[in-house]
Amino acid sequence: MNHPHQTSDITQAVLDRLADDTDPRFREIITGVVRHAHALVRELDLKPGEWMNAIQFLTKVGQTCDDKRQEFILLSDTLGVSMLVVQLEQARRSAQALADQAAGVKPTEATVQGPFYWQGAPVLPLGSDIGEGMPGEPAYYSGRVTDTRGQPIANCCLDVWSGDGDGVYDMQKSGDAGMALRARFHTDADGRYRFWSIKPTFYPVPDDGPVGDMLRAMGRHPNRPGHIHMMVYRDGYVPLTTHLFAADSPYLDSDAVFGVRDSLIIPFERHERGAAPDGRTMDRPYHSARYDFALAPA
Ligand code: BEZ
Ligand code: FE
Repeated sequence: MNHPHQTSDITQAVLDRLADDTDPRFREIITGVVRHAHALVRELDLKPGEWMNAIQFLTKVGQTCDDKRQEFILLSDTLGVSMLVVQLEQARRSAQALADQAAGVKPTEATVQGPFYWQGAPVLPLGSDIGEGMPGEPAYYSGRVTDTRGQPIANCCLDVWSGDGDGVYDMQKSGDAGMALRARFHTDADGRYRFWSIKPTFYPVPDDGPVGDMLRAMGRHPNRPGHIHMMVYRDGYVPLTTHLFAADSPYLDSDAVFGVRDSLIIPFERHERGAAPDGRTMDRPYHSARYDFALAPA
């Protein structure tokens, strides 16, 4: 007879303790966690001191979290887990959309949300400038939101946020500086959007905590290529969380959180001062970026 104190049986012994009436999905998940954790310990022939180091590391990750800092998400991001979850979800949703209807346009690819989303950004009219007075070079963003048959989606919300031209988000600034470089815009009857902000620059993910120590131990840099975040949503469509990346940014090939997708890299065209596409007269050089989004039906 097998006894759970024998190492070869301990995995099964833990699984045998699961009550019969546990939620089926929880059962599947916790079984996977136990199986994979035990397999990892066996594969690595993990020593007690090494396991204690891991526990101390995870303890520090937890202790680094507060209402503005989420070190566990950062850990998930930098190990590629967040992006893997995003990719699986989108593959599932796209397959569904394709099966449901003859889709002519591929839904826009999603990427990680990151820790700097702040709910409740001001709702502003199309064409507003959210970069005014912020460090960074002005950029004019425009494009269209359609469904996967190419039909415009009117009154679709584009919730946008980015760091400033030095790569710093409002949430990272000391004191209660409030929201900056964030807004919600709604597309017009033809699905079009336009607004001014700054051209985003590369920046490091917060690396002064245990995840930063891990990256250094791995010989990795903490940088993300320049990008602007957006959530694009309207009832009846699968909400999209994504970024647009500047094609001339460094680190496109080595994003610290593995969030880059080729379809999201776009040129930022540089213009001399003068008349801008929306009729505004610019007294300094500026950039323009165009991108069309496609949402799958819900
Ligand atoms: C961001 O792009 O805002 C971000 C994403 C993942 C980790 C840290 C920052
Ligand atoms: Fe970001």
